[in-house]
Order: sequence, then C-alpha cells, then structure tokens
Amino acid sequence: MTDLMTYLAEHADRHLEDLKELLRIPSVSTDPAHAGDVRRAAEWLTRHFEGLGLTAELHETGGHPIVYAEWLGAGEDVPTVLVYGHYDVQPPDPLEEWVTGPFDPTVRDGQIVARGATDDKGQMFAHVKAVEAHMAVSGRLPINIRFVIEGEEEVGSTHLATYVAANKERLRCDAVVISDSPMFAAGVPSITYGLRGLTYFEVEVQGPAIDLHSGLYGGSVANPINVLAGMIARLQDEGGRITVPGFYDDVRELTTQEREEWASLPFDEEGYRTGIGANALVGEEGYTTLERIWGRPTLDCNGIVGGFTGEGAKTVLPAWAKVKFSSRLVPDQDPADIEAKIEAWVKELAPASVRVKVTRMHGGRPVLVDPNTAAVTAAREALGEVYDARAVNIRGGGSIPIVADFSELLEVPVVLMGLGLPDDRLHSPNEKFELECYYKGIAAAALFYRNMASVRG
Ligand code: BES
Ligand code: MN
Ligand code: MN
Repeated sequence: MTDLMTYLAEHADRHLEDLKELLRIPSVSTDPAHAGDVRRAAEWLTRHFEGLGLTAELHETGGHPIVYAEWLGAGEDVPTVLVYGHYDVQPPDPLEEWVTGPFDPTVRDGQIVARGATDDKGQMFAHVKAVEAHMAVSGRLPINIRFVIEGEEEVGSTHLATYVAANKERLRCDAVVISDSPMFAAGVPSITYGLRGLTYFEVEVQGPAIDLHSGLYGGSVANPINVLAGMIARLQDEGGRITVPGFYDDVRELTTQEREEWASLPFDEEGYRTGIGANALVGEEGYTTLERIWGRPTLDCNGIVGGFTGEGAKTVLPAWAKVKFSSRLVPDQDPADIEAKIEAWVKELAPASVRVKVTRMHGGRPVLVDPNTAAVTAAREALGEVYDARAVNIRGGGSIPIVADFSELLEVPVVLMGLGLPDDRLHSPNEKFELECYYKGIAAAALFYRNMASVRG
C-alpha cells in the first residue's frame, strides 16, 4: 500500500489539475443551451478513461450520453465493482453570488471552488484517480471495474433507468459503489444507508382571462395569488405534518435503534443553524433535526411567481399564479402513489372560482441499503484506514434516483461512500470540495478496490 500512497502523494498536484479541466466544462444538464458542453464533458471523460488503460465509450440515450468504461482484466475469480457517478451539474445561478466564476475552478483556503466540485465531478473523479493509481503502480487493478457516469442525474436520470434495465448482463457486477453524498462531518467518515426519494410538481392557478385593474374588479373575482397562497398554506398543518390524505400510509417508522444511534452522533445543531443563517430550526413535531432530514418526508415550495414583481407598485389583479413544489419521500413511500394523492388533494383544495393545472415533473424512489454487506464492510474499512477513525452509519436527505434501480435490477449490494462534506454548498453559489476530501477520497477508493478483491460475490 505504501507504493499506492507514495504514488498519490507524488501526483497530487496533477490530480487536481485534471479535475480542474473537467470542472471547466459547463455541463449543465437542465439547460438545452449547454447540451454541447454536456457532450464535451462526456467526451473528455471517455478520453481520460482511455488514457488510463480502460475501454471506454459514449452510450447514446436520446438525452445526454452515458460514459461507460471498463477494465475486466482481473479475471473471473475476482469481483467486479460498478462505479456510478454523474458528470452533469446544476445551473450556477445566481451568478453574481460567486466569488470566482462557477466554471473557473479556483483553489482557496484548501478548497477547490466550482460548480460540480463536490456534486458530483470531484467525488466521482476520486474513483477515476484511484484507478489511475492502481494501474500506474501495478499495471493492473485488484478487481474488475465498470464505470457508468451519467449526464442526467440532476434532471432525474430519465434515460439511465431504461439503460440499466436493458443492459443488466453488460452491467453484471458484485457491488455498486457511489460517491455522491456528504460524510457526516469533517473527519467523520461515513457510510450512507438510506436516501430520500422525490416527487416534483408545478401547479398553476388560473383566474380571469387577463390581468385586471384591481380597483375596478378587486373584491368581485378570485385572485389567483391569494388562492394559491391559501392552498399552499393548507398543504401542511401547524405541527408540520403534510395534510395530503394517505400521505403517511407507507412511511416506515424509524426504529428505536436508529433513533438512538442518530442521537449519539456528534451533531452540532447550533452550528447547523448558524451555518445556514436561519433564526430557528423548525419542522415536524416530535422529531429531531437529523430525524427530520434523514427519516421523515417533507413538502417544500421551490419557487413561486405571479402578478407584478417589477420596480414600484402596480394595482393589478393577476390572471394567474404558479408554484413549483416538491416532496421528499422516505421508505416505503412510492412516488407514483404519492403523486396521485398530491394531485387529487391539490385539486380538492382549489375553489371552483379558479382553474388549476397540475404538472408532474421528475421523481425518484427512496432507498435503504444494507449497511452490513461485505462490500460495505470493505468501504468502511477503507475509510477507517484513511481517516484513522471509525465510519458511522448515516442517511442522506437528498435523492439519487437510480440507486433503487441498481439494487433491484442488478440485485447486488450498493455502497454509498460519500466523500464530501455537508457544507460543500451543493446546488448553491461557491460550491466547493475540500482538497483533503478529494485526496483522502482517492486513497479511500483505492483501498476499497483492494479490499474488494477478497470479497466473494
Ligand atoms: N448528490 C445529490 C444527492 C444527495 C444530496 C444525496 C445530498 C445525499 C445528500 C444529487 O446530485 C442531487 O442533487 N439529486 C437531486 C435529485 C433530483 C434532481 C431528481 C436532489 O436530491 O434534489
Ligand atoms: Mn449528485
Ligand atoms: Mn445534485
């Protein structure tokens, strides 16, 4: 192992430069104007894999391409690991909040700052560099490996699910490993054993056919903004519970053991509050902050528009108002079932004086993975060795839609080996990845592959 660690130390600077190159490509998957950049990132990665001695190709999907790479030279008797990650990123807005350009990766205070630094280019690339290290030191890998790096995670992994279902044989493996989530805290290596699911809506309330003078008409006709605000307010009760009938039917209660384990984690609640600049922490009654984030479903508005929002005042009664909202789901809620329930409830909440248009956007299933498989143990030990600390079991509040498909379709253990930190500002301005997380992540991935060599599938 000293050879590996020596190699990593000697090549640390170039490993950072390589990541910067990838970070410079604005692969924003949701914006059609960036489709060419998304493809450029995929092509760059493909060439990079080839340079390391892997076979790599772009797989077309009808959307953004999937980068597939493999090295199967370790032989039949050795396990195959499938590494999943995503090379697409969220839009960088609001641009004026960035200290340096979102696609001009810059190192400050031991952090690399850029869109995608942690989510997910940096974390995913740690695995690529771990492969490089093994190849350079030994001319081979201790295991067989397949990489599936997609370009549509941030838009719901629409094509990847079909791809996995259609390519079960080609993706045959003994474990899937994913680094696309945070560790519990700096210096606390973590195994994530659960992620929330998601369902996403747009609701438009339509009133009069055109904007009206609020003096001539106000008081005689439903105001779509007033109506929509009232509907939104009624989606949750005062105890923070979601009012959609049947919403909690399939929610799996937290076990006493989980609640105890989470309560014993070194969670700095005050630091969490001040870190996000909130006056107070609020949520569903009867649950702690960690329980609310990791183990309970939520409903949050993501954006709202309608009427006059320009400079000055305009006395107008608007024709329409629109909200985007989403619901984080927990095991065993089923997005399709919840979507139907939410849609019916929204329509019921709307008074007859308006028309309401409900549009379902993307979604994803919640997952729980077994934290005690041999593959997870291999990751736990690798992280423990690199961080010189015992890895804790955590869940994540975010969603990675494809995880449920991997565990069901490929029927193998999934290892969620997060390498980032909770304050990495994912999806926010000035997203960062600590260089220490990057370098330790590369080392942990390299040791994980070594440990996997002695795991039987
Ligand atoms: N890497 C995140 C998922 C994540 C974030 C897991 C925090 C655990 C903790 C991923 O890129 C992401 O942002 N997913 C979206 C899913 C959506 C676009 C379908 C999310 O969670 O909003
Ligand atoms: Mn991600
Ligand atoms: Mn993301």
